[in-house]
Amino acid sequence: MDVRTFWLAGRPATGESELTVTNPHDGREVGRHSVPTDAQVAEAVAAAHAVAAEAAALPVHVRAEALAHISRRIAERSEEIAQLITAENGKPIFWARGETGRAVATFRFAAEEARRWSGEVQRLDTEPAAAGRLAYVTRVPYGPVLAITPFNFPLNLVAHKVAPAIAVGAPVIVKPAPATPLSSLLLGELVAETDLPAGMFSVLPVENERASVLVQDPRLPVVSFTGSAPVGYAIADQVPRKHVTLELGGNAAAVVLADADLDWAAQRIALYSNYQAGQSCIAVQRVIVEQPVYDAFVERLLPAVRGLVTGDPADEKTQVGPLVSEAAAERVERWVQEAVDAGARLLVGGTREGTTFAPTVLAGVPHAAKVACEEVFGPVMILQPVASIDEAYAAVNDSKYGLQAGVFTRSLDAAFRANRELNVGGVIIGDVPSYRADQMPYGGVKDSGIGREGLHSAMADYTYEKVMVVTGLSL
Ligand code: SIN
Repeated sequence: MDVRTFWLAGRPATGESELTVTNPHDGREVGRHSVPTDAQVAEAVAAAHAVAAEAAALPVHVRAEALAHISRRIAERSEEIAQLITAENGKPIFWARGETGRAVATFRFAAEEARRWSGEVQRLDTEPAAAGRLAYVTRVPYGPVLAITPFNFPLNLVAHKVAPAIAVGAPVIVKPAPATPLSSLLLGELVAETDLPAGMFSVLPVENERASVLVQDPRLPVVSFTGSAPVGYAIADQVPRKHVTLELGGNAAAVVLADADLDWAAQRIALYSNYQAGQSCIAVQRVIVEQPVYDAFVERLLPAVRGLVTGDPADEKTQVGPLVSEAAAERVERWVQEAVDAGARLLVGGTREGTTFAPTVLAGVPHAAKVACEEVFGPVMILQPVASIDEAYAAVNDSKYGLQAGVFTRSLDAAFRANRELNVGGVIIGDVPSYRADQMPYGGVKDSGIGREGLHSAMADYTYEKVMVVTGLSL
């Protein structure tokens, strides 16, 4: 098998060692890639720093056309890319195709936003002392972005960092997750086809332990990280003076109120607790149900969970595939066992075969159990009956995380109340917390992170406001 090159300041490069990427489903080798040396890492940083002023000054049409080109090329190569995502990540091909389609849209939205990104004019002659003065307010990039990306969406969560960087004219260095670097290396091919200056883009598939050199380098003033809370906050603590964006975890809640459409709620919760084997920061983990409809809801939920097709991710019919590694599946198994030992009832699942953990439903879970209070990142949900809407919303907020919450209700009042009272970054009414449109702001509160992604929000996040005052005008 060929050894894939990495991207060093826009050109393919080879280091002195290699790493192998394996398929989480069957352990077969998916590909090998070359690993940058320390000198090559330093070269990528120097190139990003050197090109930063040129990148910021690029005309909008150049940035927008580069983004549109990447979007088109992902669309043209979508089946090949989806197959690669499935092979390296283990997510079923159905979900991998969905991710690829989303990445097409993510780059397209960035191209559109880049063209709208104009700044604004403020009249200052609101006061006699400022007569004849005008402020021109624009946003300018802080400088090169270090994008540290996770394994669970190896293309689209890379796109969410690369696309807004290109849109605002910031160089970007991607440090992909070691389990899934191949999708971002392929993305590098598409960026290299554009007219962007070479130093604007590097993909450095280095081991996690080597990331701190990049994190600490002052020439990379922005660090955008997606991953676990402990790693994210360790990064923020290392570089308190940098602009750090953290998209961290969650133990997302879905609330089913008494007026909900129970068939719809059961179907959506069954699927989105288990999509990507629960390896999404917004997969449904806590299911909070109003008591009057609890039994009727559970009656619908359990068959829906049992009916999910688990198996080979390459199979068109598979809905639930493996976790990213056997260690990850074993951890989920331990957490479920811990809950059962503490008195929880196992209603469905609870079994493991290699890297695959069966879709699992638990009830009566003690609050201190890890499956209740930590992020499972596996195909496990816990059921929690509540007596009222007050209790339901209090239960959602009873978490150290706050990324997104879903509320199944037909009541406008309950919806607006959820929006007011839930301490999360996003409230999804009538659907699961796992809903995300790529253009909307996305991010959390509490231990779920700092900052927002979504094209417009990430572009704002990578830039600061700069004001130019013009004096002596006749307005
Ligand atoms: C995440 O796991 O945070 C990303 C979810 C998504 O983009 O759908």
